[in-house]
Amino acid sequence: MADLIVVDRDGIERSLAARAGVSIMETLREVEWGVAAICGGMCSCATCHIYVGESWQGRLPAPQPDEKELLQELVGYDPAKSRLSCQVNFEEELDGLRIEIAPDE
Ligand code: FES
Repeated sequence: MADLIVVDRDGIERSLAARAGVSIMETLREVEWGVAAICGGMCSCATCHIYVGESWQGRLPAPQPDEKELLQELVGYDPAKSRLSCQVNFEEELDGLRIEIAPDE
C-alpha cells in the first residue's frame, strides 16, 4: 500500500492507502466519493474521469487511443490533466500521487 492523495468534488483533500497493482478507479470506487465507474473499467463510460497534476503525468503510462477518444468527448476534458482512472494502475512508486475527481457529467 502507498498513499494516494484525492481531492473530491467538494474540494476536500484526503490521503488514502491505495492498493498497488490495481487501477486507481478500484480504490476510488471503494471509498464512494462519486466515482461510479459504471462500465467496470472497460473504458466505455468515462464516469471514472480524474485530473492528474502535470508534474505526475510523465510518471504515468501514456493514455491509449481509446482512452484519449473517450476523454475528448467530455465537457470537463483538460488535455493537460485528464485521465480515466480505470486505465491507470496504481503502483508503489506512485506513492504521494495527487489526483482530483473530475466533475460529474
Ligand atoms: S470505469 Fe468506465 S471508463 Fe473507466
